[in-house]
Amino acid sequence: MTVHFKQDQPATDNRLDTMAQGVIGKPLPRIEGLAKVTGTAPYAAEYVCENCAEGVLVTATITRGTVVRVDIDGAMRMPGVVAVIEDDRLIARPAQGTANEAPKQQPRTVCYWGQPIALVVAETFEQARDAARRIAVEYRDDGDVAVTPAEVAAEEQEDETVREGNLDKAMADAAFAVDATYTTQGHASAAMEPHAAMAQWDGRTLTVHASLQMLNYNICELADAIGIGAENIRLISRFVGGGFGSKLGISEEVVAASLAAMQLQRPVRVVMSRQQVFQGIMRRSETTQRLRLAANSDGALTGFGHEALVSNLPGEEFAEPVLQSSHFLYPGENRELVLKLARIHRMTAGSVRAPGEAVGMPALEAAMDILAEKAGIDPVELRLRNIPDKDPERGLPFSSHKLAECLRQGAEAFGWDHGSRLARQRREGEWWIGTGMASAARVHNVAEAKARVTLKADGTAVVETDMTDIGTGTYTVVAQIVGEMLGLRPERILVDLGDTRHPRGPGSGGSWGAASIGSAVYVACMAIREKLAAQLGTDESQLRLSDGKAGDGQTLVELLDGSDIAQTGHYEPGRIKDDFAASGFGAFFAQVRVNHYTGETRVDRMLGAFGFGRVLNAKTARSQCLGGITWSIGMALTEALEFDPRDGHLVNRDLAEYHVPVHRDVPDLDVILIEERDPAASFIQAKGIGELGMCGGAASIANAIYNACGARIFDYPMTPARVL
Ligand code: MOS
Repeated sequence: MTVHFKQDQPATDNRLDTMAQGVIGKPLPRIEGLAKVTGTAPYAAEYVCENCAEGVLVTATITRGTVVRVDIDGAMRMPGVVAVIEDDRLIARPAQGTANEAPKQQPRTVCYWGQPIALVVAETFEQARDAARRIAVEYRDDGDVAVTPAEVAAEEQEDETVREGNLDKAMADAAFAVDATYTTQGHASAAMEPHAAMAQWDGRTLTVHASLQMLNYNICELADAIGIGAENIRLISRFVGGGFGSKLGISEEVVAASLAAMQLQRPVRVVMSRQQVFQGIMRRSETTQRLRLAANSDGALTGFGHEALVSNLPGEEFAEPVLQSSHFLYPGENRELVLKLARIHRMTAGSVRAPGEAVGMPALEAAMDILAEKAGIDPVELRLRNIPDKDPERGLPFSSHKLAECLRQGAEAFGWDHGSRLARQRREGEWWIGTGMASAARVHNVAEAKARVTLKADGTAVVETDMTDIGTGTYTVVAQIVGEMLGLRPERILVDLGDTRHPRGPGSGGSWGAASIGSAVYVACMAIREKLAAQLGTDESQLRLSDGKAGDGQTLVELLDGSDIAQTGHYEPGRIKDDFAASGFGAFFAQVRVNHYTGETRVDRMLGAFGFGRVLNAKTARSQCLGGITWSIGMALTEALEFDPRDGHLVNRDLAEYHVPVHRDVPDLDVILIEERDPAASFIQAKGIGELGMCGGAASIANAIYNACGARIFDYPMTPARVL
């Protein structure tokens, strides 16, 4: 049976706090952790499959043009080569991250350097890779096209525009004003597991093991891309080695493996090389951002301006939502927020970890530091003075708001010095030492979700949904919710994720995963509790389940008497979404040292305090925050996609040249989880966590660099050359 629940009201009466099992929120180690660290958790490319052929993609070596001919003769004569697939459906890529839409790009048209255009299939991977290098492609090259935003006029994204009051006048009248322009460079998701797919076709059903975040959308995308019905497709993503946005939509490896398996009537595996992932999978857009802040003599904002320029390919809808949190984080009745999009020929721009705030907040929070300095107000105090009591643009109440607590508790735990903030005050040998802080904000999202929970006659439970766990801890928090609600120890629960044969989950993206799937699981468990209560002749609210027993009486096994109870929970966020402004909030504190001679910055220590609703698992929540802070360090100091300004090709296309932080770069990080209940955010009172941990963190490092050595840097990453 399916129980539907549409959330129109705050969920104030929640069972999770009153249950007897005591497992929710606890720092339970990942239930799939042992399988992962022992190598027995199969990732997409690791499934054993007989007679599987190996496919390697051939990629474009022009920026814009048409494929006239793919010369396959040489390659076809090479040992082991089975086929070269040059299907129009391969080159007509599906639009990234959208569901139920036909491919956007035209057949045989190359839009960016590195775009996949054909697939070589051979008996072994090495044979396929070798043959792919021999393929000669003849193009009609369209020649010079725009590859940098400066070459084109940008279009204003009018849905994003806010113009209220008179910002120019507010700036002119302000006691203190800041007008600063920042740049951020493109970022790669750089997930550990490269994109991979293995497809099998039995004449009726296409089964694809792939590394994907959103099976609920991906199944429709694949159906559209290859032209078969979604009912003939089964997608499986049980384990995903990181996504960070890059696996929200399907990409060419999934389409190519599927087409090849169908055409060749045998299983085909396609694994992208690290270089192919970098050059072909979506990027985060570079940004240019102008911040204007006007404040009165108390430091209260009277004017707020944030304009951003981003880029994408022609025809693509996504525009990095840089202003997302700027709309509600700080007040200022004179407002001007404008987002502009330039159409250029680099690979598709799309969602990369915390799209929007990841780059918007570091610019805003660096500008806030300049304002604090100008106004002579402690940076923590300046933020405290600028917390709005409702959404300043929409007038909506906040579902919950823990910025002040994060600022205060974070400052205290870090040992923040609220005294003088003069730069260049502390030096140890050749190192200047300084501290900085920044606010964190990231909009909260929830999505429709379904999950089936079966309480089995033997006293165990099974949860089935096509929801994914991309390394975030979904398996574990789902087991904890079921354990709490049904009174079972987590080891009695089998969580079966990542298979489209199961009910549709919300997918993993936008940090909505845990709150959304958790709400669906909660709905299902409530329905099971109602049934058990009816059997006991009591009210559900009186039901006390723990360790497989109902109160001091019967065991669940006795109570079930040989039959299972299965319920599907269907959660939908309803009107509540329009009644509240919902966001996670937090604060970052950093201490850095900057080398006087080389300009090198090392992060000494960093602390983040975050408030994001109910904590479902204190360990996986903290791990998400640690990951987010680590991304902040990368964005602040090293990460940048470098494009050749002549043809737009990506120059640094591997982890040796695109520098993500390594252990040596990441000091001991402190995380404070500020527990709260947010009844309007989701049915289980939880908000998103994952992305919040990086939204603003880079600014705390920028501000610490200034405090250390007196260099105000307006361009991220703050490499030694920029610091000197
Ligand atoms: Mo996220 S960047 O929405 O996976």
